[in-house]
Parts: sequence; C-alpha cells; structure tokens
Amino acid sequence: MNARTAFVTGAATGIGKGLVEKLDREGWRVFAGYNRTPPDALVAACGPELRTMCCTVSDPDSVAEAARQIEEALQGAALDLLVNNAATATEATGAIENVNIEAFQRLFEVNLWGALRLTQALLPLVRKSDDPRIINVGSPSQYLTIPLGAQYPISKVALAKLTEALRIELKPFGIQVTSLEPNGVQSPMTSFPEHEKTDLWASFPEHLLGEYQRHFQYPGDVLEAAASLWTPEKFADKVYRQVVCAKKLKPRYIIGPNAWVLPTLDRWVSKSAQERLFERMFRKS
Ligand SMILES: NC(=O)c1ccc[n+]([C@@H]2O[C@H](COP(=O)([O-])OP(=O)(O)OC[C@H]3O[C@@H](n4cnc5c(N)ncnc54)[C@H](OP(=O)(O)O)[C@@H]3O)[C@@H](O)[C@H]2O)c1
Repeated sequence: MNARTAFVTGAATGIGKGLVEKLDREGWRVFAGYNRTPPDALVAACGPELRTMCCTVSDPDSVAEAARQIEEALQGAALDLLVNNAATATEATGAIENVNIEAFQRLFEVNLWGALRLTQALLPLVRKSDDPRIINVGSPSQYLTIPLGAQYPISKVALAKLTEALRIELKPFGIQVTSLEPNGVQSPMTSFPEHEKTDLWASFPEHLLGEYQRHFQYPGDVLEAAASLWTPEKFADKVYRQVVCAKKLKPRYIIGPNAWVLPTLDRWVSKSAQERLFERMFRKS
C-alpha cells in the first residue's frame, strides 16, 4: 500500500515540527510548509520522503504555489490529511481600545483566513483520499477572556466556528474535520520572551499607558505562571494516537496538561462567575 500523505503548515517550529516528525516516523509521506525560515532541523530529523516548501498562509500566491508543488509531487495521488497549524499570537498587541486594526486584520489573515485559504486550495487533492481529513489547530484560549491579549483568542473563536461549519458541509463527501486544541506545549508561542511585554506596553499612547498599567498585569506573566507544558514530541504522540488514528473524528480534541479545566469551567460555571475569575487572574488587585 502507498504511504499516506499529509501537509502541515507552520511546520518549522513547535507543534507543527513535532507533528511532522511523528507522521514521518510512522511512515507517512509528509509535506511541511514553513513561513520565514527553511526548517533545517526538521529536515535533519526526518527521512528522505519529507518535502519542505515555503507556504506563507497569509499570502494567496504563496499558498497557490505550495498547492501546485504538492499536486505535482503527488502525481495524481490524494492528500489524505491537511493540518492547518500555522498561527501568530503577537501580530496585534495592545488593548481593544488602542489596538492597531490593520495589525489585527493581519493576525486574522494568518489564523483564520490562512486556514480557509489552505482548505480551499487543497480540497481538490483531499477529496481524492479514501479517508480524507482536515485538522484545524485551534486553542483552548477561546474559553478564556484575556484582557490586553484578546486578539488571538478572538481569532481562534472564529476558527472554531469555521471548523464546525466545515464539519457539516464536508460530511456528505466523507471528509472529516476536527478542531485540535493544544493546552500547553513548549514552543516559541509559549515562551513569552521579554520583548513581547515591552512591545505590549509600548503599544499604548502615553495618556493611556499609566491607566492600563494601574489596572492590568501583563497577560503573558499570568499565562506563563499558570501553564505546565508538554514537549511537542509528547503532544504529537498523543495526537497521533487519539486523533490521526481515530476512526471517527470528534468535533474537538483538547490535548495537553490539565486539558479538562477550561472546557469544564466553560460548561459548568456561569458567564458572570467566569468573568469574575478572569478579572481576578488578570487585573491588579
Ligand atoms: N503551544 C501551545 O501550547 C498552544 C496552545 C494553543 C494553541 N496553539 C496553536 O498551535 C499551533 C502551533 O503553535 P506553536 O505553539 O507550535 O507555536 P509556533 O512554534 O510559534 O508555531 C507557529 C508557526 O506558524 C508559523 N507562521 C506564522 N505566521 C505564518 C504565516 N503567515 N504563514 C505560515 N506560517 C506562519 C510560524 O512560522 P514563523 O515563525 O516563520 O513565522 C511558526 O512556525 C498554532 O495554531 C497555535 O495557535 C498552541
């Protein structure tokens, strides 16, 4: 039997890299998309079947060229799995009051429109599979309200709705879609480097800076203190067993340390009580 085939976006680092390495180890033929830097470490860790290509998901020409290269390499065969993993959390920083709207749109360009763009571009190849699947990588941050850091979860809420709609629209064609929500995995996104804090406060005009600093903590400090993190390898192993190998995909998978906490909170605690909790977490007392 021919090897199963997959395309993973944002594969140079973190979760994407971990997933590509796992699929490669399991004998899949993997196409790995990267944004800024060719993923040399990934190439070194994988077998000769791995094919890497630039795929900037916010750039329609780059997506079209990646789709063309994949179609050419597959020579009429199917793409069995698309993993829309690429995302950015730092494109649009600041409070809602002063966030740069163009930067916020750029964040959506990656986190929402990027996933949609890839899905549209690759569905013709995915449709050819006898077990076609799309995994959109969301975030359990969609269950949180993060003051001074709301832009990223807002984009992931939109992605979750896109995934729900895709599940129903593509079901008649036998294409399974799911939302994979990592809850704490080591990656550049969860490393919260010091400059992100500096960038956040620098985004405020002088007349608002003191006001917001008086009331709110830097959200990265709160999230970092609350998080325990899995390695991308441990995460990828679990995703492979629970999601990639599942016969029937559930609507969503929250995987990672303490994965039950946020959905349980969202399900059983009233919205007003959740709001008070988030205020206690992120405001200065
Ligand atoms: N780590 C966690 O605990 C966690 C929790 C919740 C959700 N997630 C989700 O998991 C996914 C992977 O994140 P991660 O934690 O592994 O962080 P990461 O290592 O920063 O991965 C994000 C990847 O997306 C790429 N990317 C950014 N903009 C892009 C663009 N315009 N086109 C193509 N690729 C682009 C980045 O490449 P460049 O660096 O070259 O731009 C990077 O390789 C994301 O969807 C994230 O939202 C992660």
